[in-house]
Amino acid sequence: MYLGLDLGTSSLKALLIDDSQTVIAEATAPLTVQRPKSGWSEQDAATWLTACEAAVKALDADLSGIRAIGLAGHMHGATILGADDTPLRPCMLWNDTRAADEAARLDTEDARRITGNIVFPGFTAPKVAWVQAHEADIAAQMTRILLPKDYLRLWLTGEAVSDMSDAAGAAWLDTGARDWSDALLSAQGLTRDHMPRLVEGSDVSGHLRDDIADRLGLPRGTPVAGGAGDNAAAAMGTGAVAPGQGFVSLGTSGVLFVSSAAFQPDPATAVHTFCHAVPDTWHQMGVILSCTDSVEWAARLTGQGAAALTSGALRAPGRPLFLPYLGGERTPHNDAEVRGTLVGIEHATDAAALGRAVMEGVAFAFRDSLDALRATGTPIERLLAVGGGAQSATWLRMIATVLDLPLHVPRDGQFGAALGACRLAMMADGASDVAAAPPIEQVIAPDPDLTAAFADGHHRFRNAYAPTRIL
Ligand code: XUL
Repeated sequence: MYLGLDLGTSSLKALLIDDSQTVIAEATAPLTVQRPKSGWSEQDAATWLTACEAAVKALDADLSGIRAIGLAGHMHGATILGADDTPLRPCMLWNDTRAADEAARLDTEDARRITGNIVFPGFTAPKVAWVQAHEADIAAQMTRILLPKDYLRLWLTGEAVSDMSDAAGAAWLDTGARDWSDALLSAQGLTRDHMPRLVEGSDVSGHLRDDIADRLGLPRGTPVAGGAGDNAAAAMGTGAVAPGQGFVSLGTSGVLFVSSAAFQPDPATAVHTFCHAVPDTWHQMGVILSCTDSVEWAARLTGQGAAALTSGALRAPGRPLFLPYLGGERTPHNDAEVRGTLVGIEHATDAAALGRAVMEGVAFAFRDSLDALRATGTPIERLLAVGGGAQSATWLRMIATVLDLPLHVPRDGQFGAALGACRLAMMADGASDVAAAPPIEQVIAPDPDLTAAFADGHHRFRNAYAPTRIL
């Protein structure tokens, strides 16, 4: 048996599978995000540990046969620890954009060459620079910086370790060499002592501490695999490891992900180029900061459920146009200051029309990411559709039409980051060839009658960005 723990933004998921990858049990425990100021997004790291304990206990299964554990988690968070490894402040999350000035300062030609990426405000390094600039007392006590799932690992194993895929999102990694960059660390007054040790996602990173094993009902000394950032873990779960294989993920963030066999960055496109979870493999992705978050926003505003808002029939884009930049945007704009916009509303605009505009806006943002990815020269062969938002057949058809690409929808079951974490645990336990693609339920083709209308809508969407910058 293998246990996957996926630390998501809104919940922590525990997934238990047997040796043939059949699901034995799954459970989730909720997490909340605090937004004390515009652009801020934080989580108390202690809640990850309680959520982990709650989710593992809620599995309500005999865990004595577990052979290895895998970890996945939301990327880029800065978990800043003091001398006794206690968090010194709430973790600043991936969608926290307060460190825009610091990011601009760190985003040098050298940094782009070494990391293969723009230094986005949401990445870890600028957040630490923000703390150094604004919270000097905390910076003075800082001994270690961990990514969120790696703080969970520290609690589980006592080891400060990260994996290559998650580490690549910190903006301190030499992504081609798969090692910390001393030059980038020292530019911020940091050394390797502040960093976790690095392993591949499929390597053993440490073993369960006895007291934690007893507390969670797990075998003492169980190996914990390196694991992965949530997107690389989802790729392991969907079998997107070979070059050209990828997915669109409709989660809190929206991600268009494609695997590649080589490190071929193109930072100017605002596409992310990170290590994959297995050796000698990389991946690229475009990232939309507010995907299902945009629908949740519209659902709160209209008092309608997200499912109801996204269930209408597909039709040509209407007049209202929504730009989903509720908390800034990464790909393709790298713009922490921009905010969402709703234009073209009219007397007839009701809740359903607002829901459609929101879905369309996110679909157009996916098209921006596709164009950016294509500009890097990375081939895209096959895209699966995953994440909570993929429950809406209308939204998927709309996205397929806007991308003008078919989307492969897996049959109901497990294929996300938690399964990817389980698969990395299996690999750490010596297994190979574990990352098969899931059975496909249906292939959603673009609607040929609507491609022109959506292409026109995307054109309006692109043109609407610049004017909103002066509002
Ligand atoms: C990727 C990113 C998000 C988070 C949260 O760069 O910021 O996808 O990993 O899911």
